Amino acid sequence: MNTKEQVLQMLKQHAGVFLSGNALSQSLQITRAAVWKAVRSLREEGYQIEAVTNRGYCLAEPEGGFLEEESLKAAMPNGRLCRRLILLKQVDSTNSYAKKLAEQPDSDGTVVVAETQTQGKGRMYRHFYSPLREGVYFSVVLRPDIHLDELNLLTLTAALSVVEAAEALTGTRPKIKWPNDVVWNGKKLCGILTESSVESETGRVQYTVSGIGINVNNRSFPDELQQTACSLWQIGGRTFSRQQVIVTVLGRLERLLADDWFLRHREEMLAEYREDVALIGKEIDLIYPREKVHGRALGIDAKGGLLVRTETRGDTVIYSGEVSVR
Ligand code: BTN
Repeated sequence: MNTKEQVLQMLKQHAGVFLSGNALSQSLQITRAAVWKAVRSLREEGYQIEAVTNRGYCLAEPEGGFLEEESLKAAMPNGRLCRRLILLKQVDSTNSYAKKLAEQPDSDGTVVVAETQTQGKGRMYRHFYSPLREGVYFSVVLRPDIHLDELNLLTLTAALSVVEAAEALTGTRPKIKWPNDVVWNGKKLCGILTESSVESETGRVQYTVSGIGINVNNRSFPDELQQTACSLWQIGGRTFSRQQVIVTVLGRLERLLADDWFLRHREEMLAEYREDVALIGKEIDLIYPREKVHGRALGIDAKGGLLVRTETRGDTVIYSGEVSVR
C-alpha cells in the first residue's frame, strides 16, 4: 500500500470525525508534509476531505458509502461469479477493461467494478453517464459454452437479474425495455451492454462481457437526461448502499447462471422476462441506421428476439437494434 492509500485507509476508518495531522504522520511514520500531499491528491480523486487548523482532517462519507475491495469480496455471492474481483477508482470503461481480461481462459466469473467511468459505453456507441460514486458500474466476464444463437438469452438474463434486484431493494418492480434497458415510469434506471467474441467458423462464443450501469443515489441528472433517466433513490425515496446494490444484482445473476439455469430452464426464464417487458402490444419504431420502421410489438420469441408486425416488412423478428415507443 502506498502512502496515499495508507492515509485514505486511516481516514476511512475515522470517516466523519477529525484526525489530526500529527496522529496520521505518527502512526504512518511519514512527515506532515507527506500527509498533506496525500490529502491533496485524494481530493483530486474526488474524496471530500475537510482540513481545519488544530483539528486535522475529516473524510466525509459519501451517500451510499464507500466501495471497499475486501468488504465487497466478503459480501459477494459464492459460486461462479466473483472468483476474481477488481475494484477501480476510475477507468475509461469497465467493459473495455474486462474485455482484455476476458481473453484469458481462466477469466470466467471475473467482475470489474469502477467508482466512475470517463468513457462509459452504451449501446449504439452512445455514452453512458457514470458520475463518481452516484451509481454502480460493473462488468461480468463469462466464458460460457454456448452458441451465438443463445447469446441473446444471456443478455436478457442480465436484465432480469437487475429487475429482481431492484424489486428486492425498493419493493417496486421496474420494467424492461427490450432488450435490456431497465426502466421505471418510462425512465431509464439501468443500461446493460453485452459485448462478446464469437468464433466465426463455428458460432461458438469465446467470451461475453456484460456491463451493467445502475443509477443509484442520483438526486438529479444533467439537463439532457432529466426527462429520460431515473435512480433507485428516486424510486425508493432513500439512499442505497452501492455495495448492497452490486451484491444483490450479482446474487440474482449467480442464481440465473448457476449450472446454466437460464438455458436449461429457458422457458421459465423467458416467461419471467415476458412478464417484465414494457413494450408488448405497443406501437413502436424500429430504428435502423438509415430508416425508421413503424410496427406493433407482438411478443418475445424463444431466442429472446422481439416479434414485430410492421406495415412495410410484414411480421419480423429482430434480435438487436433500437426500439422506441411511439
Ligand atoms: C446502454 O445504456 O445502452 C448500456 C449502458 C451500459 C453501461 C455499463 S456501465 C458498466 C459497463 N461499462 C461500460 O462502459 N458500459 C457498461
